Amino acid sequence: MPEPGAPSHATRQRFEAARERAEALRGQIRYHDHRYYELGEPEIGDGEYDALLRELRALEERHPELSTPDSPTQRVPGQPQQPFGVAEHRTPMLSLGNAFDARELGAWHERVLRELDAPGVAMICEPKIDGLAISLLYEQGRFARGATRGDGLRGEDVTANLRTLREIPAAVRRDETDVADTPSSFEVRGEVYLTREEFERLNQERARAGLQLYMNPRNTTAGSLRQLDPAVTASRDLRFFAYQLGRAAGEGAPASQSQALSWLQQAGFPTNPHARRFESLDEVTAFCTGWEERRGELPYEIDGIVVKVDEIALQRQLGAVGREPRWAVAYKFPAEQAVTALRDIEVSVGRTGVLTPYAVLEPVVVGGATVSKATLHNESHITELDIRVGDDVIVQRAGDVIPQVVGPVLSRRRGTENLRHFEMPSRCPACGHAAARDEGDAGLYCVNRDCPAQFERLVEHYASRGGMEIEGLGEKLSRQLVGEGLIRSLSDIYGLATRRELLLALERMGERRLDNLLGQIEASKARPLRRLLVALGIRHVGEETATALAVHFGEMEALAGAASEELEQIEGIGPTVSRSVVDYLGDAGNRALLERLRAAGVRMNDDVSARGGPLEGETIVVTGALERWSRNEVEALVRELGGRVGSAVTKQTTLLVAGAGGGSKRVRAEELGTPIRDESSFRELLAGRGWREVRSPS
Ligand code: IVH
Repeated sequence: MPEPGAPSHATRQRFEAARERAEALRGQIRYHDHRYYELGEPEIGDGEYDALLRELRALEERHPELSTPDSPTQRVPGQPQQPFGVAEHRTPMLSLGNAFDARELGAWHERVLRELDAPGVAMICEPKIDGLAISLLYEQGRFARGATRGDGLRGEDVTANLRTLREIPAAVRRDETDVADTPSSFEVRGEVYLTREEFERLNQERARAGLQLYMNPRNTTAGSLRQLDPAVTASRDLRFFAYQLGRAAGEGAPASQSQALSWLQQAGFPTNPHARRFESLDEVTAFCTGWEERRGELPYEIDGIVVKVDEIALQRQLGAVGREPRWAVAYKFPAEQAVTALRDIEVSVGRTGVLTPYAVLEPVVVGGATVSKATLHNESHITELDIRVGDDVIVQRAGDVIPQVVGPVLSRRRGTENLRHFEMPSRCPACGHAAARDEGDAGLYCVNRDCPAQFERLVEHYASRGGMEIEGLGEKLSRQLVGEGLIRSLSDIYGLATRRELLLALERMGERRLDNLLGQIEASKARPLRRLLVALGIRHVGEETATALAVHFGEMEALAGAASEELEQIEGIGPTVSRSVVDYLGDAGNRALLERLRAAGVRMNDDVSARGGPLEGETIVVTGALERWSRNEVEALVRELGGRVGSAVTKQTTLLVAGAGGGSKRVRAEELGTPIRDESSFRELLAGRGWREVRSPS
């Protein structure tokens, strides 16, 4: 029993824990202050930093004896730090209210109409650049002071650094602006940002120097503007978009945001070219959702669309509530980054045996979808960024790309959790075969040709969209079918129709799903050669190469009989690709596979032609023995020049190229009145259409 009046053991323990936690928090906050103010390389966002500060403040309030005079909580909140001077904003820099979907956007619009008591209002939509808000003061037309937003009332004076930006004019083009009386003093607000490309470049530079990588363009922009040495700022290609004109008092001041943007542009400030003015909510919504889909097309990151009431008089009438103007709203896109716990690191086996580590995550919503797995790229990505199992990590998912782990949030490490370093396995996790390291290449490979995991990936690839497009045969079913021994070779896919009973015994397989699957498999037999070539998973053969091969050869037999020299004659096909194709087709096992596919009824030819060639629109049949060319060569040429190759003379045939012999086709062509040309007259026809022989005939 504790003495009465003395703190109980439990209380002492709680206090001890609080003291430790407060110390840890101070350490972290100092660390982030250092990164932010001295290195200019913040690691976490403002929100996260605030959370640390809030937690510390709460602890110190509960245990006042923990408070120290040098605690970060003793600083005046929002007060700008040394070494930059304080810059007071003449009018507060406001923030924006958010709308997370079309409904919330509609609610904002409705409120605006209600306040204005108007049936409609003109609005302007501008991409919301994910950078750093700044204010620029111009006196007598010259750039006088530049500041960050800070707490909205006072920011940091970063004039010297902003002067290094090419896109911030040192003086406005007065004579060129048609607003005659440029106000003697005005303020421009806008966003400083980094393009994705520049962000990548900076990170590559850092990787080469062995430095920790930057997390995202936004933080990097903030850090770049807080450099003590303007030369460092100057070495980064920071960009600027102006989006607001302030204190343009006097005659001729723009009456609307659209006019303000044109004025800014004429005065020499870059403005976003995608800003649009609309009269209706429907158009505004379509603009917002449209850019949500296409945000990836922009060379810089945007996190939403800012919708503003266009007319300045109406903006004044609407005013602001607290820090948020009623006349504007931010339509926010789903965040493309999120923080979540890294539960484990596992290794997957690719179609070609490459071993790739991936993260098993505490599920989290990123970019509008729940993510529970993300790629870690390769071993060096993990070691360079010091990612450990148990860490909180930043996960990124943009558009269609595979989610990836950007890096750990080092500030979240408490030192008390069980973090585990990851090591690549020395054996294939699927088949247990030893893994080998490719010379020159850093990656590990499973070298077992019969590795079931590789084969699962191959089946999945065969059935994928760019391949034979068998809907329903995805990752899971491929694994099941290979695992159950129902597919041991790609050709077994076409035997599945005879194994209904076994298939129906599979988990989650019903009659309907099975019928669908079998229908899809049947339909896949008709895919053209170029798709089959992709589907087979021949190394280095993607869509483009496959199409080039299909255009040139037209059918599998001709391709299989070709030597690597002939392949290399085709534009875009080099020695590596041609060797890979020749090796694949020279392999007896692969030849047998192709035979089984053919026997199953899989189409082995293609009628693809090069586009826009001199033979476009022609369907040409070749017959008989030619002199300078083989039949295959003529057919390849026809396709490469944009024509189609027919196998029999029909009403659709536009020309018969006939060598010696070729009796029945010639007869049929004569019956139908189809033009017939011999080899040399065909060459004349081609020459007449601008074709010049570049290749010497073999
Ligand atoms: S208007 C009252 N327009 O979004 C108007 N802001 O919370 C306030 N931002 O960090 C700003 N692009 O820097 C406006 N075209 C744009 C913007 C934009 C990005 C940023 C701004 C601030 C945040 C607003």
